[in-house]
Amino acid sequence: MEWIVEDRGAVEVWTIDGESRRNSLSRAMIRELQEHLKTIQSRRGLRAVVLTGKGHKAFCAGADLKERATMSQEDVHAFHQALRDSFRGIETAAQVFVAAVNGAALGGGLELALACDLRVAVEGAEMGLPEVALGIIPGGGGTQRLPRAIGVARAKDLVLTARRVGAAEALAMGLVSRVAAPGRLLEEALELAGQAAANAPVSLRQAKRAIDGGFHLPLEEALAFENRMYQDCLKTKDRVEALRAFAEKRKPNFTGE
Ligand code: COA
Repeated sequence: MEWIVEDRGAVEVWTIDGESRRNSLSRAMIRELQEHLKTIQSRRGLRAVVLTGKGHKAFCAGADLKERATMSQEDVHAFHQALRDSFRGIETAAQVFVAAVNGAALGGGLELALACDLRVAVEGAEMGLPEVALGIIPGGGGTQRLPRAIGVARAKDLVLTARRVGAAEALAMGLVSRVAAPGRLLEEALELAGQAAANAPVSLRQAKRAIDGGFHLPLEEALAFENRMYQDCLKTKDRVEALRAFAEKRKPNFTGE
């Protein structure tokens, strides 16, 4: 197994289990990630996933460059497509994904974190997209998701220099939304995931869609798009349950219907 999956009720923790190669992404890891993403499509009880890497050194050092050296051009194409698909799978999942950046997140590793909805980094973590220093460009969504997350000027500042930023600068840039003290990272990521997981599942899915799908549209169209996402929530039993719970001064019991 390439990933360690830990069940925490409505939340799961998925840990990349490749510490000796700094959790760099192999073909087997991506294949297994795709399987997990497929499985959770029918798991209504699972509301959030925390993604992290084993050990303290790296969240993920990008593609497994040792395996890459053994791959044909065709293999590289297939790997890259699978990588892109799995990152898109994270982004479009009904669950909320929280990246707990426990160490270096470089290249594909940062792109993996960027596909998540939320990012928390431990103090001391380094993040960057070094691809232009390696004769390529970020091709796992980095050139598209980074400017959407932090703006074009800051994204170019990172991509064109290939430089690495620490957790404090990442926080100031909005690349991560929280920084945790060493030893507190998983706790903080789980707290964030838990807060999201307590909310109505259809609302979470629709809010993700509204934000991600509306961002690039002209405002008029984006507002119409938001309205479509909103209308879908109106049909749910959970909306009625939330109103009832409010009136009865209790916590709602959401079912995802
Ligand atoms: N693919 C395969 N193996 C990798 C790897 C990668 N992307 N990144 C690191 N490793 C391996 C190293 O080759 C080394 O293996 P060895 O023990 O057989 O020599 C081992 O992981 C430890 O690496 P090391 O550099 O000594 O660890 P570190 O903790 O000092 O630094 C990183 C960790 C992630 C900062 C550093 O390894 C690094 O910069 N890696 C390259 C990241 C990168 O450029 N990725 C590609 C982006 S496109």
